[in-house]
Amino acid sequence: MTSSVRFDPAGPLRGTYTPPPDKSISHRAALFAAMTDEPVTVENYLDSEDTRSTLDAVMALGAGIEHDPGGRVLVRGVGLHAPLEATGGLMNVGNAGTLMRLLPGWLAGQPGGVWTLDGDESIRRRPVDRVAEPLKQMGASVEAREGRFPPFTVRGANLTGIEYDLPVPSAQVKSCVLIAGMLASGATTVTEGSMSRDHTERMMRRARVPFVRDGLRITVAQVDELELDHVVVPGDPSSAAFIVAAAILVGGSRVVVEDVGLNWTRTGFYRIAERMRAVIVGELEEPGAELDGEPVGELDVASGPLEGTVVEPEEVPLAIDELTLVALLGAHAEGETVVRGAEELRLKESDRIEGVVDGLRALGADIEATPDGFTVRGDGSPLRGGTIDARGDHRMAMLGAVAGLASTEGVEVVGMDAAAVSYPRFEHELRALL
Ligand code: S3P
Repeated sequence: MTSSVRFDPAGPLRGTYTPPPDKSISHRAALFAAMTDEPVTVENYLDSEDTRSTLDAVMALGAGIEHDPGGRVLVRGVGLHAPLEATGGLMNVGNAGTLMRLLPGWLAGQPGGVWTLDGDESIRRRPVDRVAEPLKQMGASVEAREGRFPPFTVRGANLTGIEYDLPVPSAQVKSCVLIAGMLASGATTVTEGSMSRDHTERMMRRARVPFVRDGLRITVAQVDELELDHVVVPGDPSSAAFIVAAAILVGGSRVVVEDVGLNWTRTGFYRIAERMRAVIVGELEEPGAELDGEPVGELDVASGPLEGTVVEPEEVPLAIDELTLVALLGAHAEGETVVRGAEELRLKESDRIEGVVDGLRALGADIEATPDGFTVRGDGSPLRGGTIDARGDHRMAMLGAVAGLASTEGVEVVGMDAAAVSYPRFEHELRALL
């Protein structure tokens, strides 16, 4: 069922806000816990549609999952070598791209096992050849619809390590190869073109997997087992970015964001917003605190006038899920905002270049698409408003909500329910700050 929700121009956002648990780290925590022989407690695991798909997937592989009243998830893993009784299954990843791309890394290393991964309509148009190719090179057999799309069948094998240069800047592909590398004989080296989120590397460190990073090259060796007993998930900087953008745009706002992950590979949006003159006070460059191997901290955000900026390709992976918000800030800023080198946005839960350009233009923005991004021009005045279709994409739904609060006439978001994929309490928490 598709829900339409109106977001009218509203008064300032004020107060203290704690973002939901990080989605990327929750997926990895569940997968690594399932690959561990001993039980692992995951504290602050994200409760959302995507991360439920990951718990379902590891249960289908034989892991036990228990939720305790304190919000912790206890995972009784099956070890690195998943039991083959669980083979032959069809695994439904729902809308979860991270699960679709990381899980095959583990499955590929199970000789004799065969699994087919499928998901919703959106996942079926997102390519898996990017993970199929390195897994084939490592010795697994894989099959995808038209060689490219889910359903995606993985036949496990005794893998051999490879040297792999990532053809696309993708933390998901890097992670898939590193996970397969933990099961492959010899060394597996992945080289990225520019830095992307490093949560998998940090999770490997927690699980005592020996690996070496040399600049953009990461080399991992085969391991017998993971050693993990407890993971604590920090707040999600991508989810928080929607609230922060609202605080930047709605006049008179002042919001303190607590316990948010400040891993540098995830905070590109905040640095771009600062460059646009947004007032964000916090330890963005060098967070002083860590929570279980991930930098965390506080950000103090206030509204104010913005100016345009240029986002260069190497910044894109560091802000990939927030670039639609850069477009929204750009529409309210004085001058031109350009995003380049972001063609990956076309392959997200929806084509986010088309979605943001059509969506914001319908609200009154002067914005145009380019093959690898967009250009938006503003004169510092707010958008008019109108209707925006989330196109089944959680981040487009949340973008529409923020656009509504900052507009002069309000925005009707068609398909607001999509937000539950990553942030079920988004609307509630946004309105609570008003
Ligand atoms: C993610 C990586 C990014 C991001 C996605 C989550 C991850 O995708 O867009 O929401 O958890 O590794 P790509 O690595 O494909 O860019």
